[in-house]
Amino acid sequence: MTATITLPDGPATPRAVQALRFLADRNGTMHRLRDRYGTAFTVQTMNLGRVVMLADPAEVKQLFLAGADDIDIVDINLGSVLGRGSFFAIRGEDHRQQRRLLTPPFHGRRLRAYESLIEDEAVREMRAWPLGREFAVMPSMMRITLNVILRAVFGADGAELDELRRMLPAMVRVGSVLAVLPLPRSRYGPWRYFWRYRARYDVVVDRLIDRARRDPDLESREDILAMLVQARYDDGTPMTRDQIADQLLTLLSAGHETTATTLAWAVERLRRHPGVLDAMTPELLDATVIEVQRVRPVIEMTTRQVRAETVQIGRWTLPRGTIAAACIALLHDDPALFDDPHTFRPDRFVGARPESYGWIPFGGGVRRCIGASFATLEMNVVLRTLIRDFVLEPTSAPGERPFNRGIAIAPAKGGRTTVRRK
Ligand code: HEM
Repeated sequence: MTATITLPDGPATPRAVQALRFLADRNGTMHRLRDRYGTAFTVQTMNLGRVVMLADPAEVKQLFLAGADDIDIVDINLGSVLGRGSFFAIRGEDHRQQRRLLTPPFHGRRLRAYESLIEDEAVREMRAWPLGREFAVMPSMMRITLNVILRAVFGADGAELDELRRMLPAMVRVGSVLAVLPLPRSRYGPWRYFWRYRARYDVVVDRLIDRARRDPDLESREDILAMLVQARYDDGTPMTRDQIADQLLTLLSAGHETTATTLAWAVERLRRHPGVLDAMTPELLDATVIEVQRVRPVIEMTTRQVRAETVQIGRWTLPRGTIAAACIALLHDDPALFDDPHTFRPDRFVGARPESYGWIPFGGGVRRCIGASFATLEMNVVLRTLIRDFVLEPTSAPGERPFNRGIAIAPAKGGRTTVRRK
């Protein structure tokens, strides 16, 4: 017997109008539709077509925890940008195996090895900060998180570090445009630039892999490239060069701008809440990182697609092909989940963990961000270093508006800040 399809309600305005509104102001539209339809609604979007938006923690939990045969990632064209071996292009059993190989380097003792590297990069970057004069902190945070990934993930130094540092930000920028714009693949225009970058990238990564394979100290190395070169699937085979290159590019694309924009928001929020800075303790700093991600999530939603004939998610029966989104931004300011949700109040998380499916800046289930612990450590160390060495001048300027940079939502003015040395 075929189940009866039930989708949440949504606006009756023409599809194109809905899609344009969603494109022009995603956050505002999501909030308006929640006010009108509640914690689930259906809306037309430009690049994904019809999307079922979910903002109830129990339904989001079901979406995240469904088996990969029932629900998996959306078929978008990321494979052509990040490569066929990228997390964003693989599914089912391939994905499970890759998670098994890549999860250990991102956890526990291995992670702590990066602490001094992160502090080192933060100190180096902050040494160049102007004193007593306002500047945008975002480019600085982008440099710190780029250098950290190139050293901790790619294991790069010397000429390779310099070359990747020069080339990758531009390559990721072109790639992120190509991932959302359905431009025909052509030898001209943006694809041409992208392939040129990719060819240079492959040469540098090949050099790093060759060097790792020859390295007599490979086993004691802490970088992720070194660990991937040694990793083996269940049947004993190693990852191919292409798989390693695709996954490193994926880690960089997913981890560089997201972490930097969250750090820029942390500075933007802290300058407007000097009481938090005055009361700072290690516990309050951990709580601050959680609260910044709650009030200013840099990824507003994450999507899945139904693979089975139908899937039941809470009140809804979704047919095959349906794209459903977990609305991170809506959960995070739901007054049913957080008291006084629009107020930045890190102490709400001192000694109290956030709601597990109400606070989801890193998504959830088998697709949950693999770099969540790494990013959390990095944000803590960078902020701890900043607060140790500098006084952040408070400001009464209005909060910066969110601006969509393509991959992540950043403070529109780049997190303007003024510092003095302690
Ligand atoms: C504050 C920083 C970060 C935020 C907010 C963030 C957020 C996210 C989100 C929302 C997802 C989708 C999860 C889902 O659909 O359930 C994701 C996936 C992913 N992230 Fe992060 N991320 C951050 C940092 C990082 C870092 C530092 C890395 C690696 C170095 C990383 C690597 C990845 C990868 C590989 C995936 C895909 C996982 C998979 O499909 O199995 N992210 N991230």
